[in-house]
Amino acid sequence: PVPVIIDCDTGVDDALALLFAVRHPGIDLRAVTCVAGNTDVDGVVRNTLTVLERAGAADVPVARGAARPLIEAPRSARHVHGHDGMGDLALPAPRRTPADADAVTLLRREILASPRPVTLVPTAPLTNIALLLRTHPEVTRNIERIVFMGGAAGAGNATPVAEFNVWHDPEAAAITLTAGVPITMYGLDVFTRVVVPGDDVRRLRASAEPGARLAGDLLAHRPAHPGSRPDDPGEDSGGLGDAGAVCAVADPEGLTTHRLPVEVSLAPGPARGQTIVDRRPRIGESELHEGTREQTLVDVGLDVDVERYVRLYLTTVERSPA
Ligand code: BDR
Ligand code: CA
Repeated sequence: PVPVIIDCDTGVDDALALLFAVRHPGIDLRAVTCVAGNTDVDGVVRNTLTVLERAGAADVPVARGAARPLIEAPRSARHVHGHDGMGDLALPAPRRTPADADAVTLLRREILASPRPVTLVPTAPLTNIALLLRTHPEVTRNIERIVFMGGAAGAGNATPVAEFNVWHDPEAAAITLTAGVPITMYGLDVFTRVVVPGDDVRRLRASAEPGARLAGDLLAHRPAHPGSRPDDPGEDSGGLGDAGAVCAVADPEGLTTHRLPVEVSLAPGPARGQTIVDRRPRIGESELHEGTREQTLVDVGLDVDVERYVRLYLTTVERSPA
C-alpha cells in the first residue's frame, strides 16, 4: 500500500475522505494532521478523532496544527459545514486525545520514518504543509507527491475566482506549490462533479456498519454555500468532495490531469487566492517561460471519471473493517 498522510480540516467531506482512506487496501494511512479551516482547529481535532473511532481506526496518530493562516486573520466557515464543522450531526465526543507532538513535528517524524516515500494529501488550507516545508525542508526527499484538494482552473467558491482552501491561506498555498515536490491539484473543476446518487446514499444510511452509516449521513448533508455544492444535487445525492482527492491516490487513472503552470495570486484585491492556471495552447516547453515569470508546473485535474470514483468509494466504505 501507498503510505499516506492526510492533512485536513474535518469538515463533512474531509470526514468522507478519512472513512475512505482507512478502508482502502491500497492506502496505508500513517497519520492525520489537523488545521483550522472549516472550523477552529480544536473542533477539527475533535471531529477527526471521532470519525476515526467510528471507522474503527482509533490507532492512527492525530496531531493538532495551525490555529490560523500564516498572514490572513483567522476566519470561520461554519456557515458551510454547520456549527461543529460536521453538518451538526451531534456525534459523540472522542475517547482519546491527540498526540503530544504538534502537526509539523508529527509530519516530519512520520515522513522521515516511512520506509517508502509518503504521499501527502492536504484537504484543507495548506498552513501546516507550508510550515513543514519551510521548517524542515529535508522532508521533501521522502515525499512522493502532494495531492491536494484546492484551487480551481475555472470558477471559485469562496470568491468568484478563489477556492476556499487556497483563499483561506494563499501564502501557504504559494509556498507549497513552489517547494519542488510533484503536485497534483484536485481542484473545484473536478471536486464538484463526483456525486453519489440518492439510492446509494440511502443504502449507506441504512447500513448496520457504523463507518458506512456515517458516510451515508455525511453524504446526505447539504453544504449551505452554493459554490461548495455538488453539481447534480438530485434528491438525497451527495458529493464526495475531499474524498475524491484520496480516490485520486488510490486510482490515479480515474483523474485526467494536464501539466500546466499554476501561480497563486497573492495581491490584495478581488483575485487574492486565485490559482491562475495557464491553459494557453503551447508550442513547446522552451517557449513556456519565455517572457513570463517562472511558474510552477502542476498536474491539474481537469476531468474525472465520475462513475469510477463513485463505485470505488462505495465498494471501499462498504467493506468490512479489517
Ligand atoms: C474545500 O473547502 C472545504 O469547505 C471543503 O472541506 C473542501 O476541502 C472546498 O473548497
Ligand atoms: Ca476540507
